[in-house]
Amino acid sequence: MKETLRQYLVAGLVSIATAGGLILYLTARRGYFDLSIVNKSLASTSLILLGIVLLLGPLSRIYNRFDKWINYRKELGILAFLTGAVHVYLSMFPLARRGPFGLYQSRPLVAYTGLLGLVIMTYLFIISFEKIKQKIGMAKWWKMQYWGARITGVAIFTHMAVFKYPEWNTWLGGEAGKLARPGWPPASLLTAIFISFVFLTRFSELLGAKTAKFLTPVWLAAAVIISVLLFKL
Ligand code: HEM
Repeated sequence: MKETLRQYLVAGLVSIATAGGLILYLTARRGYFDLSIVNKSLASTSLILLGIVLLLGPLSRIYNRFDKWINYRKELGILAFLTGAVHVYLSMFPLARRGPFGLYQSRPLVAYTGLLGLVIMTYLFIISFEKIKQKIGMAKWWKMQYWGARITGVAIFTHMAVFKYPEWNTWLGGEAGKLARPGWPPASLLTAIFISFVFLTRFSELLGAKTAKFLTPVWLAAAVIISVLLFKL
């Protein structure tokens, strides 16, 4: 019980630090604070937490020092679900300009990939309770978690990339609009770079443990260098 509490505490602190950091970044970039900034920060926090969950598997297999972190996957996954659920609520109700289903009608791919992510995360959350887990059986439960987390990662990455691509393109083209810090890249672009690093690390594992051990630091260095260069554009 004590250990479970500690794991939730650590996962909670990681989530608060991520969301808090994003709120500060977006507020400084735009020069004002509003509910939309909270919404964007929770949305990216959810995706980043999911990215960490997907990263811990290969990291623990490639490097021993990440073995302990594998225990935090469940708690981080639950917090990814909760932050994602608040984002969906804010997007569909307080912030929706054309009603709760406006986005589903105007941008079906964007809306339904996001919804798919939320539905799978809700399911994974429900089956995370010990009693349900035992009813399903360990082998089947692991398979559901395994595929569920992967499909959610791809669905939400698609949701964000399709939605945000025009904004990234405009910013990369030198048009920043009325931003207090126009030189700072969109937070969603930095999140996309992190998720690309996660996907590349996972794909590298398919090439064997030795290749993955060599490629993971290469992908990490590339992600850091690209992110830093974006600030210098
Ligand atoms: C758990 C599932 C979901 C996750 C993790 C998620 C994640 C994201 C991310 C990372 C962004 C980019 C944030 C940014 O602009 O910096 C975003 C934007 C957005 N998402 Fe989702 N999303 C999910 C489901 C949904 C659903 C079902 C809807 C509603 C139909 C939705 C509506 C929006 C809207 C309106 C934006 C743009 C917000 C803005 O630019 O201010 N999302 N989402």
